[in-house]
Amino acid sequence: MLSPAIFFRTMIFILIFVSVWPTLICAGSYADSAHGSGTIGVNRGVPSDKGYVQGNCGHCHEQHASIDGVEPSPGNGAAAYSLFYQNFNSAAMSSPYAETDNFCFFCHSTLTSSGQSVANFDYSHSFGCGTLGEMDIRATMNQFSSHNLYDVYTFAKAEFSWFSDSSNPCNACHNPHLAKDNAGNPQDPTFSAISKPSDHANLWGAGATETMGNRFGLDYEPLFCDNSHTTREPTAGSDVIQARNSTPDYVGFCTDCHTATANIYSTSLGRYLKKIDWGMGGEKHGEARTDSRYPRNSSGVPIIGGGAAVQAPYAPVSLTQDYTLSCLDCHEPHGSPNGMLLRRRINSGDLGKTITALDESADDGVIPNDNKDIGYLCMRCHQDDKTRGAYSETEDNVWRYVHHGSEIDWDTPYCGGPATFPDTKLTCDGDGALRCHGWSGNGMGTPHCTDCHYHGSVVTITNGKCANDPDSTRKTF
Ligand code: HEC
Ligand code: HEC
Ligand code: HEC
Ligand code: HEC
Ligand code: HEC
Ligand code: HEC
Ligand code: HEC
Repeated sequence: MLSPAIFFRTMIFILIFVSVWPTLICAGSYADSAHGSGTIGVNRGVPSDKGYVQGNCGHCHEQHASIDGVEPSPGNGAAAYSLFYQNFNSAAMSSPYAETDNFCFFCHSTLTSSGQSVANFDYSHSFGCGTLGEMDIRATMNQFSSHNLYDVYTFAKAEFSWFSDSSNPCNACHNPHLAKDNAGNPQDPTFSAISKPSDHANLWGAGATETMGNRFGLDYEPLFCDNSHTTREPTAGSDVIQARNSTPDYVGFCTDCHTATANIYSTSLGRYLKKIDWGMGGEKHGEARTDSRYPRNSSGVPIIGGGAAVQAPYAPVSLTQDYTLSCLDCHEPHGSPNGMLLRRRINSGDLGKTITALDESADDGVIPNDNKDIGYLCMRCHQDDKTRGAYSETEDNVWRYVHHGSEIDWDTPYCGGPATFPDTKLTCDGDGALRCHGWSGNGMGTPHCTDCHYHGSVVTITNGKCANDPDSTRKTF
């Protein structure tokens, strides 16, 4: 029996269906979409056997929960929007997700049911020249970290008026009637797969003003793709201008929800998320400039805009060059084997380690006494000691130089030479809230990177600050 709410929605749906159908067809947008395509589009076995051509709406919508009087498998009675199955199971509050938890998974997962098998890959593979990895959307969502679909559903419902109780959290970011195969046509941004939740009726990235190139110009540096260091994301082509103009403006996309003010709850993390401010007054990986103390002008006043020992293709940040990164330079959109949706491959290399722990809350005095795996992320774009050839370091992921390097022309926050135990000048109060090194053991502990480096982080430098540096506050992300 239909619940009154579903019955009401079904009636409304039939009305809209009849009135919208011509627009969807005539506008050509549905027919141009991946789902509506007569060659790669939707094509479930059961409707197909009944003569529905590939791309027909009936592969997703069953007008009366039946075809020829019988409900084809998967049977679930009538569902909202006359879909062949319930759109989203809001009782599934976290991953791993079963196929039946989300309507899309009947096709977007490897399957044996009545759906259709669609192969899709993660961003690191589709656009980052990475190895194969997971091969469908459900599998990418069932990894160590992922966008929590229940939270996306709850947030979108409260935030966007078109999003209903019966809507699907995937559709907060996609419009199933418009989405195209971007991975198959990465050089052409009109083949966008995404829609901003605040502009659900259009594709995002398809407009001339909606690419990273258009919005940030030379400030956006597309990452290297394969390890030849000649090709760029997202096309693996060598033309850097084309690469910029082929990358959708993911900053505009992600910050449609992750604004500098939105309170977003995460069931997976058990807390509200940090706010993301990518604007001029916000983060350095965003539009804010780096804040080098060197070089100084003739009056000894530091000039903003230098610093950062970055890896190619980034040029050493100069007074004229200031970069703005795409969210998808570091993150996956769906899920990842690393925490926080961090990509498994960035800037032409796989991360040296799978990052499942961001930090450890307590110093135990053992060397190495803390987890600094997050450094393997930074290494993809910044120079650790080995890359820089500092202190004859032979190990990966050691970061003495960027913090303590003593050259006068270099911008280090805790300068004054390499630390020698027990030189407290170079520490940040041993066991205090911000501790660079724990001294409780018999040597230098490993710094807690995420005490000082995270979205929105600002550090006040007390002990160890350079004698000639008047300003002791630095943005550290
Ligand atoms: C429709 C709104 C929406 C959009 C658009 C969106 N997010 Fe989120 N995001 C959320 C919500 C809700 C959460 C909290 C649930 C969670 O933790 O997964 C979240 C959580 C996250 C987290 C923390 C995940 C975790 O639990 O470990 C990251 C990282 C993230 N988003 C990155 C992104 C990136 C990158 C983009 C752009 C590709 C993006 N988000 C776009 C709603 C959104
Ligand atoms: C890939 C599956 C799929 C195909 C194919 C598909 N739809 Fe939908 N449609 C959906 C989903 C899912 C929703 C629910 C939207 C949500 O979650 O908010 C929906 C919702 C709708 C709605 C309600 C209003 C809206 O846009 O949200 C109408 C009307 C509609 N579809 C008509 C059509 C027509 C007409 C066609 C063919 C021209 C079609 N659909 C093809 C999946 C599909
Ligand atoms: C927070 C936003 C967000 C959510 C939620 C989301 N996606 Fe995506 N999705 C993206 C982005 C961003 C991309 C990469 C865009 C591109 O391909 O240009 C993407 C890509 C895709 C692709 C194409 C992948 C490829 O490379 O071939 C498919 C298919 C897809 N998503 C399906 C889904 C399904 C199914 C769900 C729900 C289980 C979902 N998405 C949830 C943002 C999202
Ligand atoms: C009946 C099977 C079916 C269902 C259900 C379905 N899809 Fe698809 N989807 C496909 C097929 C087939 C393609 C085209 C694959 C290709 O590019 O070869 C596709 C393509 C896409 C694309 C474009 C990227 C690409 O790989 O072409 C997105 C985005 C997408 N689907 C999202 C969704 C979302 C979100 C839902 C649920 C609301 C959904 N799909 C439900 C079969 C389905
Ligand atoms: C330079 C790499 C990098 C870029 C670029 C980046 N992130 Fe992150 N992001 C991280 C790291 C590392 C973390 C884990 C530390 C933290 O929580 O801040 C993270 C965590 C997050 C979280 C979870 C925050 C929390 O509450 O712990 C969200 C949400 C997020 N990122 C969204 C975004 C969005 C949106 C963008 C683009 C505007 C973006 N990120 C760009 C590296 C990056
Ligand atoms: C006590 C705080 C603190 C801790 C702990 C810390 N850092 Fe830093 N880090 C800083 C400050 C301050 C800067 C300078 C920011 C600036 O240039 O304005 C910095 C700069 C950096 C830079 C950018 C360097 C450049 O080229 O300008 C990287 C990369 C970095 N740190 C990585 C790490 C890693 C990896 C860890 C953990 C092993 C770590 N940091 C631990 C405070 C800290
Ligand atoms: C995808 C590449 C990329 C990754 C990954 C990355 N960064 Fe950066 N980072 C940059 C670029 C490029 C800049 C210069 C930004 C600018 O010009 O505003 C920068 C700037 C910085 C700065 C400011 C330096 C200054 O002199 O003001 C700090 C601090 C920093 N990064 C820390 C980190 C830490 C810590 C990590 C790892 C958790 C990290 N970054 C990961 C590319 C990256």
